[in-house]
Amino acid sequence: MERTFIVGGNWKMNGDRKGIDEIIKFLRAGSIPANNEVYIGVPSIYLDYVQQRKPKNIEVAAQNCYKVEKGAFTGEISPDMLKDLGVKWVILGHSERRAIFGESDELIAEKTAHALEKGLKVILCVGETLNERESGKTNEVVFRQTKAVADKIKDWKNVVIAYEPVWAIGTGKTATPEQAQEVHDSLRKWIADNISKEVAESIRIQYGGSVTAANAKELAKQKDIDGFLVGGASLKPEFVDIINANAKKPEESKESKK
Ligand code: PGA
Repeated sequence: MERTFIVGGNWKMNGDRKGIDEIIKFLRAGSIPANNEVYIGVPSIYLDYVQQRKPKNIEVAAQNCYKVEKGAFTGEISPDMLKDLGVKWVILGHSERRAIFGESDELIAEKTAHALEKGLKVILCVGETLNERESGKTNEVVFRQTKAVADKIKDWKNVVIAYEPVWAIGTGKTATPEQAQEVHDSLRKWIADNISKEVAESIRIQYGGSVTAANAKELAKQKDIDGFLVGGASLKPEFVDIINANAKKPEESKESKK
């Protein structure tokens, strides 16, 4: 099954209006393959600013939202508010939310279920720490994080998973294409066994963690890597090259049609 390649930027807590104008400028100037999907994860205070200025072929994503409609939850934003601005995507379960803000698997699953109920599309982040990898627990962690969500939702069509090994985030230490492919492949098998074969075949799994223009092409060749979630490099013009990482040279595209 052909899965649409999807590349997202995660600006985290970076930028101001002047810097955002620069980013919008290079995004407008760069070419985006018609078949690729692109989103940018924007700090909540700038969601509307970016939504008003973004190119049509790029969607805006929030970096978080809460698990209920409204109420006394100081500092939080709801899926309804995102929809009110025209925002279609939300990134949930990023490792920084898990580690720094103490978000549990359970809370992330509840947020995911509520966001989907409200019609948002969700990028669900999963991934192991260095300690967990070194003690051979990578699959266990990634499956546990995915299962928490599987216990709460039935329909996966508006979910994209981002596999982001914590040790690769912001460290310049990218997983090798083989390391990433191995986890993507085991996760897809877990999904086939525990959710359904259809979901396993159709769900897109992005890789994230120190993705750059220099390493994106090799990663994009892996069978189970369906795109990227890009932090640091999404603030720079090289993000456009990462968006194009799956563009095939003429001889390769002939090859793939055989
Ligand atoms: P990085 O961040 O590309 O800067 O490593 C990725 C992410 O946190 O999504």
